[in-house]
Amino acid sequence: MLDYGSYAYVRILDKSSRYPILKIAHRGDAKRHFISREFEMLRLLKTQPVVRVHEEPVSDEDGIFGFYMQKLSKISRIELAGRLEDLLDAIERVHEAGIAINDVSISNVMVDAQNNITLIDFGFAGRIGERIPSFFPPWKSRRALLSVEADNESIDEICKICKVSTLHN
Ligand SMILES: Nc1ncnc2c1ncn2[C@@H]1O[C@H](COP(=O)(O)OP(=O)(O)OP(=O)(O)O)[C@@H](O)[C@H]1O
Ligand SMILES: [Mg+2]
Repeated sequence: MLDYGSYAYVRILDKSSRYPILKIAHRGDAKRHFISREFEMLRLLKTQPVVRVHEEPVSDEDGIFGFYMQKLSKISRIELAGRLEDLLDAIERVHEAGIAINDVSISNVMVDAQNNITLIDFGFAGRIGERIPSFFPPWKSRRALLSVEADNESIDEICKICKVSTLHN
């Protein structure tokens, strides 16, 4: 296993494949909502700087519970501090496509093989202005609607964290 998140785990499979990373929902209906929403968002954003996903999701008779994606790498805070403009551009491109991310954080920023800033983790994302779905956890439901403002607040947080990391380096 590569990593374990709040609603899914991430595994690396066949390294020679174009989409070697598998993200699978933890057991439970609520977790599946996030995975299928994430898959839908990532497919919608396939020309934006977000992780590339295989068009065929993993599903059973109850629907989607996973998907395959390209392999990305972590980026250090220090490196991210020097690439904040690229991060802002990436997020802006997602907003221009009409989507609010609603989970902007350092752990959801990675780089691809060409070292391009690439965004992951779109389970809480949705169309800008969309009513927050009832299955979202309380800490993602403070506002009534999905908004760019929430992403902008998270960007401010990242900028602060990166500034501190740079000072202490
Ligand atoms: N395409 C990828 N390539 C390499 N590692 C990845 C990839 N996607 C995710 N990961 C790793 O797995 C971790 C969890 O992924 P992700 O954030 O999508 O899951 P999550 O269940 O939504 O987690 P959380 O809610 O804790 O952020 C990431 O922080 C990253 O370290
Ligand atoms: Mg995450």
